Order: sequence, then C-alpha cells, then structure tokens
Amino acid sequence: MTNDGHGGEGGGTALLDVRDLTVEFRTRDGVAHAVNGVSYRVAAGETLAVLGESGSGKSVTAQAVMGILDSPPGRVTGGQVLFHGRDLLTLRREERRRIRGAKMAMIFQDALSALNPVLSVGAQLAEMFRVHEGTSRKEARGRAVDLMERVGIPAARARVDDYPHQFSGGMRQRIMIAMALALGPDLIIADEPTTALDVTVQAQVMDLLAELQRELTMGLILITHDLGVVADVADTIAVMYAGRIVETAPVHALYRAPAHPYTRGLLESIPRLDHKGRRLHAIKGLPPSLTAIPPGCPFHPRCPLAQDICRTDPPPLYDAGPGRASACHFWKETLDGAR
Ligand SMILES: Nc1ncnc2c1ncn2[C@@H]1O[C@H](COP(=O)(O)OP(=O)(O)O)[C@@H](O)[C@H]1O
Ligand code: SF4
Ligand SMILES: [Mg+2]
Repeated sequence: MTNDGHGGEGGGTALLDVRDLTVEFRTRDGVAHAVNGVSYRVAAGETLAVLGESGSGKSVTAQAVMGILDSPPGRVTGGQVLFHGRDLLTLRREERRRIRGAKMAMIFQDALSALNPVLSVGAQLAEMFRVHEGTSRKEARGRAVDLMERVGIPAARARVDDYPHQFSGGMRQRIMIAMALALGPDLIIADEPTTALDVTVQAQVMDLLAELQRELTMGLILITHDLGVVADVADTIAVMYAGRIVETAPVHALYRAPAHPYTRGLLESIPRLDHKGRRLHAIKGLPPSLTAIPPGCPFHPRCPLAQDICRTDPPPLYDAGPGRASACHFWKETLDGAR
C-alpha cells in the first residue's frame, strides 16, 4: 500500500497543502533537480519540522511555497501550493505578494542580513503597520514596542530606536520573529532559525517560537538539519533527502523507531546524554549531486541495508502506520529492527 505522502491524515482543510511540488535549477552542469515531488500539509496550530542534510532541498521547497524562489535560475516545474485551499502558484504576482506580506511570513537563519542595517528596529517594525495597515506614526511606534516586549526584548521602550547591529544574535532573532508576527500571519516558515546561535540561546528562541505558535494557533514549518533542536516542539517530522521526502511521522513515533535507514542514520548521529561513550554513527558518504541523482533509491550508495532492488526501483512512499510514510522498500524491516 502506498501513501499519498500527505501525512497527518486528520480531516479538514489543511492551512497549507503542498502537492507534488517540483523545482529545477538550470546550472552550468545541467539541470539540478532540487525538489522532486514533495508533498506536505500543515494545519492551523501544527508544527511541521523539515529535516535533512544541507542541500536536500529544504530551503528551496520553502522558497517555492513563499513565492520567493530565486528565479531564474530556479523554476517551479510542477505541483500545487494550496494555502487556505487556493493554489498560490496560479495567482498573479501582485496577489501573491499581498498574501506573503500579511498571511505567511518567513524567518531566516541570519537576522543581520534579513534586517535593514540602516533603519532602527522600531522603524522597521512600525513600517510594517504603516504600509500594510495605514497605521499612524505614533500608533505604529507603540505597537512596535508592544511587539518587542512580546518577543522578550528587555527594556523594549528604551531600545526601540537601536539598530540591528546593536543587538545580540539571539535578540536579533527575536526581532525577526517580531517582524514575522507583526501582521498576524496564519503560517510561519522558519528556516534554520537558531542555527547561528549558541546552544542555550537556541533553546530560548525555539521555546519562544513554540509558545507564540501555540498561543496564536499558527501553522509553523521549522526547517533544520538538527533533529535535536526540534524534537520538543514539532508535532510532525518530514525528512528530506535529495529533494524528496523519504519519511514522515509524528515526532515521537519517529524518535522511538524510524522507518527509513536515512532517518536512522540521522538519529544515530545526534549526541545523546543517555548514550554516553557510545560511538556516533555519522552517515557515511555524501548526498548525491542533484544533477545526477542515482537511479532506484537515491540513498542506495550510502545505505547499509541496500539490496539489488534498491539500485533499480525507486521506492514509493509506503504507508508505514498511523500518520507515517517511508520511501524505503524495506521500511518494515527497518521499523522492526529499530523497536
Ligand atoms: N540559487 C541557486 N542556484 C542554483 N542552484 C540552487 C540555488 N539554490 C539552491 N540550489 C540547488 O538546490 C539544492 C537544494 O538547496 P537548498 O534547498 O538550499 O538545500 P537545504 O536543504 O540545505 O536548504 C542545492 O544543493 C542546489 O543544487
Ligand atoms: S530502499 Fe533500499 S537503499 Fe533505499 S533506504 Fe531502503 S533499503 Fe536503503
Ligand atoms: Mg537551507
């Protein structure tokens, strides 16, 4: 039995329903197949973590969803991005921009380059209200201070006129979260939001995001290469490899017993306190070039369980239990072996 890859079978219209999305880049070495039939859903109030090594297509998928793909050279070549049931890929540029401004927002890894260096943070926040909602200067400033307080900036009133470089990395990330929240979006996509931060600050920023997401019942997509960071806050995980989703599962089920050898490899490479002294099994080898993805299962050159069929037959996303799917011919053996 195969799965449509949409995971989370709970009924109702998803806030975001990405279907069979494909994105290509024209490069000097040929066509890079960055996203190859990705499907995922996010409901209001749900957190989906998208996990995978660098270059697996996590950011490009998000950029296509947001409509900020670097195009050219990138191009969406197939699929749908249904947001509140409407396919964003069919909208006119202007309409798309309006939705992106107000209803979906993105948080990036590097706040320093995402924020404007020559405008105070208060002015940047206030501008959101002034431009999108026609708020008066004075009121916009007041709301900027409120937002800064909401995301935990100490002495917000005194710091509203400070510039981005005057804040620490963690505080800047909070300001970017404030920018994302300003217009009350239904969906936030956070692309490696804590990767540049110290471990303790990472946890604080992640907790803040999770708290706001719950309180405001937003959909949240958390992109990361670090499963350790999202385990406590995500509901569902989608694992990407070579531009495909290779496993989706509720976070705790995936943690307990992965149904894909690649996920197992990722889990085994997290340092764990309870396994002190145990050797970490990093996955051997490198991800494939996206201009020459191996036939059959794209993971086969690195997979300890690979058989002949893996080199010829691409595995579909098999249904692997409630809310679970795995693109491995041997998902059952993998799951049983992990239990
Ligand atoms: N601007 C670009 N020009 C050409 N190729 C790109 C560009 N952005 C991304 N790609 C291709 O898409 C692949 C996936 O990138 P990305 O989604 O950023 O990976 P990650 O999973 O690390 O976020 C890259 O390895 C690269 O081949
Ligand atoms: S299909 Fe084969 S190569 Fe791919 S992950 Fe499963 S066992 Fe490994
Ligand atoms: Mg990325």
